[in-house]
Amino acid sequence: MQEQINKIKEIALQEIKEAKDLKILNDVKVKYLGKKGELTQVLRGMGELSPEERPIVGGLVNEVRDEIENKIEEKEEEFKSNEMKEKLEKETIDISLPGTKVKRGSKHPVNRVIEEIEDLFVSMGYDVVEGPELETDEYCFERLNLPKGHPARDMQDSFYITSEYLLRTQTSAVQARTMLEKGGKEPIRMICAGKTYRREDDATHSHQFGQVEGLVIDKKDKNVSLADLKGTLEVFVRKLIGKNCNLRFRPSYFPFTEPSYEVDVSCFKCEGKGCSLCKQTGWIEVLGAGIVHPNVLEMNGYDPKEYGGFAFGTGLDRLAMFKYGIPDMRYLYANDIRFLKQFDRKDEE
Ligand code: DAH
Repeated sequence: MQEQINKIKEIALQEIKEAKDLKILNDVKVKYLGKKGELTQVLRGMGELSPEERPIVGGLVNEVRDEIENKIEEKEEEFKSNEMKEKLEKETIDISLPGTKVKRGSKHPVNRVIEEIEDLFVSMGYDVVEGPELETDEYCFERLNLPKGHPARDMQDSFYITSEYLLRTQTSAVQARTMLEKGGKEPIRMICAGKTYRREDDATHSHQFGQVEGLVIDKKDKNVSLADLKGTLEVFVRKLIGKNCNLRFRPSYFPFTEPSYEVDVSCFKCEGKGCSLCKQTGWIEVLGAGIVHPNVLEMNGYDPKEYGGFAFGTGLDRLAMFKYGIPDMRYLYANDIRFLKQFDRKDEE
């Protein structure tokens, strides 16, 4: 019997040695160590042995079993590491290849203009404030001296959500909000830039556009005057559009200011001589402005006998168009990467 066991061992080790892959090795494992394997069969026949022989044969079978097991494990490891080696060799990565470029967005031209305006006004002591785009009729119109049915509402074709809520047509709504927030007592110097909406759509109008609003209120004895308004707007356009720009105030009408003005800037393209941009007039209209109407002060908690000031508002898109020479306002909202990419390095200029 011992001879038989040693024979099995010899053949098994030989087969392990010759095994060419994991599958064959596995078959060998089953053949010798499995439930019906050759060594197991030997153990089954142990009943026929004498009590003295049994432990000797039992010990030998275990020894041989361990040896076969170890050899199979060794061989398995060998196969696995060869496989890994092969895989690594096949999968070499060429680190000299250029990587896939991550595309980066850039700041939108309108946002560049907003940041520039905010920086400028903060440097003059203004607060930067915000208001909701979904606004109420009350703040967008009524508190700005535009009661329901007022004919001046016709100038702003609006998107109403309900009879009370609309997409704000002007950032002027934030004037009322700021005054109420200050409680009719504190002086105000604020600037507010944001999105506004009207039912318009052509080369110089879009249904969504940007506006910036400014409001200055102080005690009457501080004498916030038209001269201050003019000086402020001059600094504004000279910083944003061109150092040599001049301003012209034309009397106009806005319900929330009295007197009201439309403010023109001298054409920065032809320097006032007359060209296609300024339609040969030498001037381009850029702003609405005026002295805050007493009704507006009163409706929003400020006593018009004690307080007064000025307000102004302008379209951000037009400013961006002037600043960067953009011919059609719709480019600003088409989300075309080819257009937007052109502003990548404008900040450094
Ligand atoms: N909100 C006006 C508009 O959208 C612009 C405007 C005019 C704003 C005069 C003002 C102002 O603050 O004083 O047409």
